[in-house]
Amino acid sequence: MSKPYYITTPIYYPSGNPHIGHCYTTLACDAIARMKRMQGYDVMFLTGTDEHGQKIEKKAKEAGVEPQKYVDDIVARFKVLWERMGITYDRFIRTTDPYHVESVQKIFKELYDKGYIYKGEYAGKYCTPCESFWTESQLVDGKCPDCGREVVDAREEAYFFKLSEFGERLEKLLTENPEFLQPPSRVNEMVNNFIKPGLEDLCVSRTSFKWGVPVDFDEGHVVYVWIDALSNYITALGYKNDAYNDFEKYWPADIHMMAKEIVRFHSIIWPAMLMALDLPLPKKVYGHGWITFNGAKMGKSTGNVIDPFILADRYGVDAVRYHLLREMPFGSDCAFSNEIMINRINSDLANDLGNLVSRTVAMVLKYFDGKLPAGRKDDPMDNELKQMAGEVGKIAETAFENCQFSFGLSEILKVVSRANKYIDETAPWVLAKDESESGRARLAAVLYNLLETIRIVSVLLYPVMPFTMPKIWEQIGASGDVVKWENALKFGALGGEIAVKKGEVLFPRIDLEKEIDELNALLAAQNPAVEKKTEEAKQEIVLADEITIDDFAKVELRVAKVLSCEKVPKSDKLLCLKLDDGMGGRQVVSGIAEWYSAEDLVGKKIIVVANLKPVKLRGVESNGMILAADAPDGSAKVVFPDQDLPCGAKIR
Ligand code: MSP
Repeated sequence: MSKPYYITTPIYYPSGNPHIGHCYTTLACDAIARMKRMQGYDVMFLTGTDEHGQKIEKKAKEAGVEPQKYVDDIVARFKVLWERMGITYDRFIRTTDPYHVESVQKIFKELYDKGYIYKGEYAGKYCTPCESFWTESQLVDGKCPDCGREVVDAREEAYFFKLSEFGERLEKLLTENPEFLQPPSRVNEMVNNFIKPGLEDLCVSRTSFKWGVPVDFDEGHVVYVWIDALSNYITALGYKNDAYNDFEKYWPADIHMMAKEIVRFHSIIWPAMLMALDLPLPKKVYGHGWITFNGAKMGKSTGNVIDPFILADRYGVDAVRYHLLREMPFGSDCAFSNEIMINRINSDLANDLGNLVSRTVAMVLKYFDGKLPAGRKDDPMDNELKQMAGEVGKIAETAFENCQFSFGLSEILKVVSRANKYIDETAPWVLAKDESESGRARLAAVLYNLLETIRIVSVLLYPVMPFTMPKIWEQIGASGDVVKWENALKFGALGGEIAVKKGEVLFPRIDLEKEIDELNALLAAQNPAVEKKTEEAKQEIVLADEITIDDFAKVELRVAKVLSCEKVPKSDKLLCLKLDDGMGGRQVVSGIAEWYSAEDLVGKKIIVVANLKPVKLRGVESNGMILAADAPDGSAKVVFPDQDLPCGAKIR
């Protein structure tokens, strides 16, 4: 019987159209699911939508429709996108599915009966028009972050989950089991920022809105959306319901995949819930980085058409899949740009892979009439390519298994480049002039080595590019066992006479200039407001009052290196940075926590206003300020000097 393998994406909020960020996580899961199926696992790949909560209720109201109708429409769009992207999920859960609602009620009740959920009072800042509770740190200038109006102190009856009881067990889980939370940098973030400062009990019911799972033993309360949402990973398998029956088979999950901003819920609240329910914990929680966008304006270098449907239509689904997985570095963020994407498609797919296939197939057609004979004469100059192609399978497999897609793909593409170089080194067109038996056998060996390399890389690339790789197999005459995963781990599986076939161009080259112009036109036609807004924004820049050079000289800007970086406890916005400023070190508190975490900053040089009067922010002393620019999307971008300057260097 084949081994079960359970992989999940987060369940997405259907509060707006699915976008390329959602695509990334789902594609990463799809690539792993496809690889695991090829390896013979019995895979359960779960995705779905997280449909309850005040945010959705509000959006539906704004749209003038019932929440259910509102989410139904968007969920349908998610499903169409997944189909277009070739996502092979096995199950799709909606938190409005009646079986899930029923299970969540039972889970809530069990936690209550066991004493892990108790009734208390929730106190916070309340915005009456928005009917929302806010924490102090969520307020903007002391006002409601949604509508900007005054908030009042308010209390409401609510249920609480005893999260505070799990601190020690969670710390042990995270620190003693390095496999559990990946990449490793996320462990310190969780332990230092959340667990060590002390976990507070979690408010797990609301009475201020209706769109949620009702607490069935206390009318008026609905279950907190994260308790509802996290439960999906087990309710979708039939936990506490009769809709499905594979909880025993698939739980615990092999991997929960997501971006970093929701790692906290999955590595703290979720394991605590499972501990309280006496259930095994998932084997791995993986938090990848974000795809970031450098502004809405399209331009030659900041091109930004990001609608996944448009991208798939223009470049092909496989090219989009490849680009996203190749571009995102392990654990870090990556900036999306059409220009980088087009260059990547041209270089890796059109020039390297596409060319290798078409040149090789063309040579077999030309020199052997499309039928490569079995008699071959090897040469030591073949060894390097054969060795690389024979070893890359294990490397890629381990990389994909560990979510290091970018590394795995670049290793595979190295073999493709090596094969192209091998064509130049062996010069088959010169070998073809020797018509003796041994000359023919030598030429056959060279072309065989190329076909075999193409077979291996195309099998390894299949989980990422499932539409194009079978076209390659058709061209190189590979089918059946030779395109099985285990046969991509060794060189030499193709045997006997090999019949090749000319096929279509796999990845047409894109004319960058022309494409960017077309994308610009497309964007302007779709959304003239974007163009107009950007123009208006440019005109609206009003400079502050003039200053003299002496005024400027008062500000001392210095280069410093970030040594460490932690979130300021109980603040969503503040980071505390320890800097090497070339003057013995200093500590600076900066309001960039929404956009940066330790791994984005530690080790990097930044610019600090070094003679600013010290202040205390949330009780933490700040000696200076680091420079950041306002980005068009409203985020702050830290200014990193692009040369290696010594710590303490003065900027003038
Ligand atoms: N509903 C919650 C998840 C509940 S899971 C029990 C949620 N939904 S979401 O719609 O906001 O989706 C968040 C997830 O979408 C991220 O964790 C990530 O997987 C993906 N992404 C959304 N934007 C992204 C980027 N810009 N970049 C990369 N991934 C992104 O949170």
